[in-house]
Amino acid sequence: MIKKAVQEAFNEQIKNEIYSAYLYLSMNAHFTSANLNGFANWMRVQSGEEWLHAMKLYDFFAGSRRQSDSASDTAAADGF
Ligand SMILES: [Fe+2]
Repeated sequence: MIKKAVQEAFNEQIKNEIYSAYLYLSMNAHFTSANLNGFANWMRVQSGEEWLHAMKLYDFFAGSRRQSDSASDTAAADGF
């Protein structure tokens, strides 16, 4: 079982990563509108990278929960 403080820290970091992805995407829009396509592309790549960071944290957290649930199910089946 993951402690509440750790869960909250994960949630906060996932939120920060997604917020960063959004900021980079908005910069992509700005540079696209200025017809600065090289800059726009770089921002788009950064946005995707931040989204990937969020998903890695999410997958790690979700995997930990699945393992915890599985261990609880096994313990319950064993009568613990
Ligand atoms: Fe990041």
